[in-house]
Amino acid sequence: MIISAHELRKTFTTRSRKGAQTVEAVRGVDLEVEKGEIFGVLGPNGAGKTTTIRMLATLITPDAGTATVAGHDLLRSPGAVRRNLGYVSQAGGVEENTTPRAQIVMAAKIHNVPDPAAATAGVLDRFDLTEMADRPGRTLSGGQKRRVAIALGLVHAPPLLFLDEPTTGLDPQNRANLWDRIRQLRELGTSVLLSTHYLDEADALCDRLVIVDHGRVVAQGTPGELKREVSGDVVTLRVAEPERAADTLKPYAREVRVDDDLLRVYVDDGEHTLPALLRALEERALSLTSIALDRSTLDDVFLAKTGRSLRDTGAAA
Ligand SMILES: Nc1ncnc2c1ncn2[C@@H]1O[C@H](COP(=O)(O)OP(=O)(O)OP(=O)(O)O)[C@@H](O)[C@H]1O
Ligand SMILES: [Mg+2]
Repeated sequence: MIISAHELRKTFTTRSRKGAQTVEAVRGVDLEVEKGEIFGVLGPNGAGKTTTIRMLATLITPDAGTATVAGHDLLRSPGAVRRNLGYVSQAGGVEENTTPRAQIVMAAKIHNVPDPAAATAGVLDRFDLTEMADRPGRTLSGGQKRRVAIALGLVHAPPLLFLDEPTTGLDPQNRANLWDRIRQLRELGTSVLLSTHYLDEADALCDRLVIVDHGRVVAQGTPGELKREVSGDVVTLRVAEPERAADTLKPYAREVRVDDDLLRVYVDDGEHTLPALLRALEERALSLTSIALDRSTLDDVFLAKTGRSLRDTGAAA
């Protein structure tokens, strides 16, 4: 376990002329992240994702709760925790008037990396940044800037990397590119904790995730587990002999519903069940005119757990 957090809490109090206002940003969050996995924190704006990550990165102190991060106690050994992690903030800043190379060398020195220039050249190369490494930061594209921000967090080769909404504001091509790079990090053995409000990102990238809402974990598991738990998938078929087809398919499904010549087959895992359904129909010489698979999404999970759609919170993909 590279992160094990229990009952983390954080309340912010802000004072203005109208008096003190308190926000319970995180209200008792538990997280268990395995070594080598990409772990997601999915939730709408204001759910407490950044606050949770900042607590685990030692940037703010929890009001309550305990955590072990990269083998060290968060509250007793914050320095050791910090040495073992890379942190890329939501804004992911790259300095405008300094070159990426100079910025990364500086970060390497701050982390006491033995050969800062070589370590910098290494991460620049890994993120395809060598070509623009000696230009001022302001001349880089959005996707390149984001890669520099991640390279800054990785130059000291930490076993654990925190990415707070790494793809927000990127176009689809740059997003896909960054997803690949994050997967490569996992292949090289880095554990990744990332926050996102994109359903498809959590689904595509995360080995496991928690869904947070109003500072609490409302669901956790692998994307597949979460989706199966809530609704499973639906295969809709149009067939000539619906009743006979329904009897044929029942053994493969949770439930089969007949609606005129339309058959709705509820299964746990559509992708893997589909070939078996087709084979069974063919064996009985049941002909079919159309077929469709609707997979459940993490939005169905969010809806089931909170009564709201993540899409309606203005935070969806
Ligand atoms: N320093 C602070 N002072 C006061 N309130 C804060 C502070 N930081 C966060 N909050 C509040 O705590 C809540 C959780 O904020 P947080 O930034 O953790 O959410 P988030 O899930 O990261 O949202 P987003 O997706 O918009 O980044 C919000 O209501 C926010 O306004
Ligand atoms: Mg945030």
